[in-house]
Amino acid sequence: MRTHFCGLIDEAMIGRTVTLCGWTDVARNLGGVCFIDLRDHEGIVQVTVEPDNAPVFEVAASLGYEDVLQVEGVVRARQSVNDKIRTGKVEIIATRIEVLNKAEPLPFHAHENAGEEIRLKYRYLDLRTPDMQRKQRTRIKLVQALRRWLDARDFQDIETPILTKATPEGARDFLVPARMHPGEFYALPQSPQLFKQILMVAGFDRYYQIARCFRDEALRADRQLEFTQLDMEFAFVRERDVQDTVEGMIRDIFKEVMDVQLDAQFPRMTWAEAMRRYGSDKPDLRIDLELVDVAELVKASEFAVFTAAAGDPDGRVAALRIPGGASLSRKQIDEYAAHAAKFGAKGLAYVKLGENGEISSPIAKFFSEEAFAALLRHVGAGNGDIVFFGAGGYNKVSDFMGALRLKAGKDFNLVRDGWAPLWVTDFPMFEWDEEAQRYVALHHPFTAPAVDDIADLRANARTAVSRGYDMVLNGNEIGGGSIRIHRPEMQSAVFELLGIGAEEAEAKFGFLLDALKYGAPPHGGIAFGIDRIAALMAGTESIRDVIPFPKTTTAQCLMTGAPSPIPDEQLAEVHIRVREKAQP
Ligand code: AMO
Ligand code: AMP
Repeated sequence: MRTHFCGLIDEAMIGRTVTLCGWTDVARNLGGVCFIDLRDHEGIVQVTVEPDNAPVFEVAASLGYEDVLQVEGVVRARQSVNDKIRTGKVEIIATRIEVLNKAEPLPFHAHENAGEEIRLKYRYLDLRTPDMQRKQRTRIKLVQALRRWLDARDFQDIETPILTKATPEGARDFLVPARMHPGEFYALPQSPQLFKQILMVAGFDRYYQIARCFRDEALRADRQLEFTQLDMEFAFVRERDVQDTVEGMIRDIFKEVMDVQLDAQFPRMTWAEAMRRYGSDKPDLRIDLELVDVAELVKASEFAVFTAAAGDPDGRVAALRIPGGASLSRKQIDEYAAHAAKFGAKGLAYVKLGENGEISSPIAKFFSEEAFAALLRHVGAGNGDIVFFGAGGYNKVSDFMGALRLKAGKDFNLVRDGWAPLWVTDFPMFEWDEEAQRYVALHHPFTAPAVDDIADLRANARTAVSRGYDMVLNGNEIGGGSIRIHRPEMQSAVFELLGIGAEEAEAKFGFLLDALKYGAPPHGGIAFGIDRIAALMAGTESIRDVIPFPKTTTAQCLMTGAPSPIPDEQLAEVHIRVREKAQP
């Protein structure tokens, strides 16, 4: 249907007759002459229709947004050059225009700032816009580059089942009724975790897969129900073998896709250090602000909230100094407190130091003058600063103070440009779940503990460290992995510590325990969040922008209307009766 692409017409083609196909980006009838911006996937070229060509002019004058055209014409040098587009030095003098398909008035227009809801409902129109085309292409380039990199190093691309048995990664499973086994269900994989481990037992050595994963969890800007991992596993490795390889891969991929040179060696930080200094297990190192522990300096105060936390071995009292923060108004301070509250803060104490050193603080009254001065010295507070204080349980205080650090970084323009990758290592093996009154795995139950000795692990479960690691980029967890347990006794012991008894372990993970019995090599791996990396590369906050057909935060596809009710007959086939139908 066409001889060339619109966006690739250039001066070398002047004088040639071309046939182009595309959409009417805009058509302007300036009385004497019609200009059509004709757009295809490569870009835009100007089509000019002169009035002496009456039948063609008539068609051109009737065009609306997004009409689909075939245009034949001659390439000519443009009189008024347009520097903004690649084809700006040329135009097409139309000799024939055929309307291949007329478009109805659009529900929204690319040039207006349409809301996300309408963009998702008419996603195909949204995806047509240059900005969305660019974002999708960034993702496509990323995946191409990753595959090339891995294929060149002889990683084996192996598919694993989508209809499978639940492999717990901490989220809720999506279930699929098994028609041929009434009352039984498949689960969609939360990740290919156990299959990739078993592939190592099966002798494949280096595996990868661009794998769709499904997790029924609350959606956010960086979380979707289904998302894509670059999933990898290696046999006969220790942490550094995996980390050095994939760090090199990420560096090469950033160079290729973005022409960005990342650090020659990513910084490394233990989980404990990350929590202490940044209040986060995925610190954004582009912000220099750090938390300072002040428990020792508030112990003698009369503020019960502080002294209680300072005296509690699981407590924390931390300060965050924001240089220049004294400019915050009362209302803005309240906003910071509200932000901290979202992350579990019960209150947010502060000290404002005016330009002349005047102190404004709701907690000064609890301190002697000297003690308060010592506190301010310790956190390095100077005139014009504000210092926020958080007190309570260690992890909660770290969380909300870490969240304030990010907010302050943004609000005060303290986020450096560029890329700040790092490794976070030495995660706790277990987390105590108050509600369930048992340990849960911080990463997943197949991650090896740092200690090899089962008795040691049992005796020190509360403080046990795992062989897990995350790669973090600009405050986003872009990948997570670990060295796995490869001995069945250790795997059984960890199940037991997680409150999974021998019988349950056999029913749920018997196949894994079996596989570990028959010659499982030491192995480990990692999975990267492709959507998150693509979003970072495309410079967008939400992974929805780099997923062609994402779900909303209410877990719906606005274009297809999924999820949707299923007729009773179809449900009966899979032996399902809905307990209570949602009211229409
Ligand atoms: P993990 O659960 O840490 O590890 O996931 C790996 C990476 O996948 C991305 N990710 C997500 N992206 C979008 N939406 C989500 N809901 C979502 N959940 C996770 C993150 C994360 O770092 N089986 C292990 C990997 C391993 O141990 O090898 C796993 O799935 O970028
Ligand atoms: P109060 O005397 O109760 O008004 O508290 C004095 C200040 O301490 C107020 O600014 C509270 O917001 C703050 N505050 C209360 N609880 C905490 C907490 N857990 N961490 C930090 N500040 C707190």
